[in-house]
Amino acid sequence: MALPDGFLYELKERSDITDVVSGYVNLKRRGRNMVGLCPFHSEKTPSFNLYPENGSFYCFGCGAGGDVITFIMKIENLDYIEAVKFLAQRAGIEVPENSYDDGMGKLRMRIFEANREAARFYNKKLYEPEGKEGLDYLYRRELPDNIIRRFGLGYSPKSRYALCDHLRSLGFKDSEIVAANLAFRSQDGRRIVDRFSDRVMFPIIDLRGNVIGFGGRILTDQKPKYLNTSDTPAFKKSANLFSLNNAKNTGERTLILCEGYIDVIALSKAGFKNAVATLGTALTAEQAILMKRYADEVIICYDADEAGQKATARAISLLRNAGLVIRVLSIPEGKDPDEFIRNKGEKGAAAFKNVLESSGNDVEYRLTKLKNKFDLERPDQKAGYMLEAMRVIASLDSSVEQDIYVSRLSAELSIDKASINADLQKLKRRREGEARKQEYKKLSTELSGRDDKINTEKSKHTRAAKAEEMLIAFIVYNNDMEKAASQRISPEDFVTKFNSRLYSYIINKIQEGVSPSTTLSRDFTADEVSKFYAILHGYNSQTATREAMNEYIDVILEEKRKLTPEKISEMTPEEIMASLKKRKNKY
Ligand code: GTP
Ligand code: MN
Repeated sequence: MALPDGFLYELKERSDITDVVSGYVNLKRRGRNMVGLCPFHSEKTPSFNLYPENGSFYCFGCGAGGDVITFIMKIENLDYIEAVKFLAQRAGIEVPENSYDDGMGKLRMRIFEANREAARFYNKKLYEPEGKEGLDYLYRRELPDNIIRRFGLGYSPKSRYALCDHLRSLGFKDSEIVAANLAFRSQDGRRIVDRFSDRVMFPIIDLRGNVIGFGGRILTDQKPKYLNTSDTPAFKKSANLFSLNNAKNTGERTLILCEGYIDVIALSKAGFKNAVATLGTALTAEQAILMKRYADEVIICYDADEAGQKATARAISLLRNAGLVIRVLSIPEGKDPDEFIRNKGEKGAAAFKNVLESSGNDVEYRLTKLKNKFDLERPDQKAGYMLEAMRVIASLDSSVEQDIYVSRLSAELSIDKASINADLQKLKRRREGEARKQEYKKLSTELSGRDDKINTEKSKHTRAAKAEEMLIAFIVYNNDMEKAASQRISPEDFVTKFNSRLYSYIINKIQEGVSPSTTLSRDFTADEVSKFYAILHGYNSQTATREAMNEYIDVILEEKRKLTPEKISEMTPEEIMASLKKRKNKY
């Protein structure tokens, strides 16, 4: 049960990788390749490379690599079959029926369906006598019916079996309800119990309109205040944002990042539909990169309390790294946007708009925060402020930007601009030195294989693994050398299992006359495919010769021999002689 090679060949022919990737990444031509900012990690200078010639991509920054299918899997968060269907639809070709095992895809569909039914159920309950407390709660928080409808809010009943019973009556299996994290199995394992009860429910909807999870707020002061769906096969908290489905349609390239569901909804009600929030966790790099796809600017709008300010500092760094322009909003009165807008009553929206417009950028925010920590009347404190302020300035990428803040600092502290600049240069040189050290450390870790998550044996057998990788790359670039290599070495002679499996796959494909890269993403996981492209781009074996190939093989065979203690007791006298002779020849 696997997709036919021929179908995959056609799919890839009709899914031009440059066309597909251009929909997500701003690509520029560089020689025969294209380059752009990597959509899979934060960076400011492009290390994402696209190779139209062989239909692959590889990022030298984060090591993500693969073919057009892998790209769609990663960027759209789909599994293999889903990505194939996605591309087939785009190319207007049919996926052969019954040719694949789509167990996970089917489960995901069922989870989406269960979630949708759950959202409907919760919403209906809100307007039944059972849900009166929930509805009263929402009304108390000034959320009227049209807003409840816009966000599909609901109420999960007190009974711990209400949703389970309902979903079962619709034909959902217990296992599906549990997989959706809408219920969990009771201690004795005999029945399943609703996960959410007596809470106001906030459905979380992805960019395709699927209900992927829920946040539920308790009506009282009990803890935990919010309960969120745990990660499921259809939901990854760290890679989604509440209300991004609404925010991306506003036509603005600005997002307002809030702390919670209620803030987002309050802002939406006041006319700011471009607000989003994380899902009960701190902002992640993944979310920052996701935001960059839909926005150029993010306005951070966190609570004024200490936790909110800490989260702001963290968010600034993540969003900056993702290449976003940042503004930080400080709410003058009240704790969060929801309270602020409500306290202003009729004038809430206008007042918020004022605050929005007067919000400064992240550098100003950080400098103001710093300044408040120091008493600038005292010389030692003034020097301390200057040092910390310069650290902030030194971390900026643009020298124009740096100059602006140096000028300000100079005026503010009545210190000569030239002397600030001199100190700044020193600081920048030190930073560059540190960056180089980091880079070097990363490189040596990579070379040692210590951080290789796919080939976990690499760190133990570095020499062998490296020779194996070079041989793999060599054969991929020189298919015609497969026979010569196979006469001397077989996959069983490899020291590390992953490389052995990969090599075996590649030579089999070459023998069948199929390009290995056509089907690789079908038969290996996305991370394994990335590793394959890391191997290809890690060594410049395109230009290597047959002699080089023989050297790789020698090293592998030699390392393998070291690992295979010959069991003399099981050998025939002839074998012992042969083995001794082999060793003599060697040394
Ligand atoms: P209200 O108290 O209902 O006004 O909501 P709020 O938005 O002011 O809540 P708060 O500032 O306390 O929290 C903001 C966000 O943090 C919420 O939307 C949740 O996503 C998350 N959060 C708050 N409390 C909890 C909790 O107990 N558990 C988890 N997992 N997340 C929480
Ligand atoms: Mn809050």
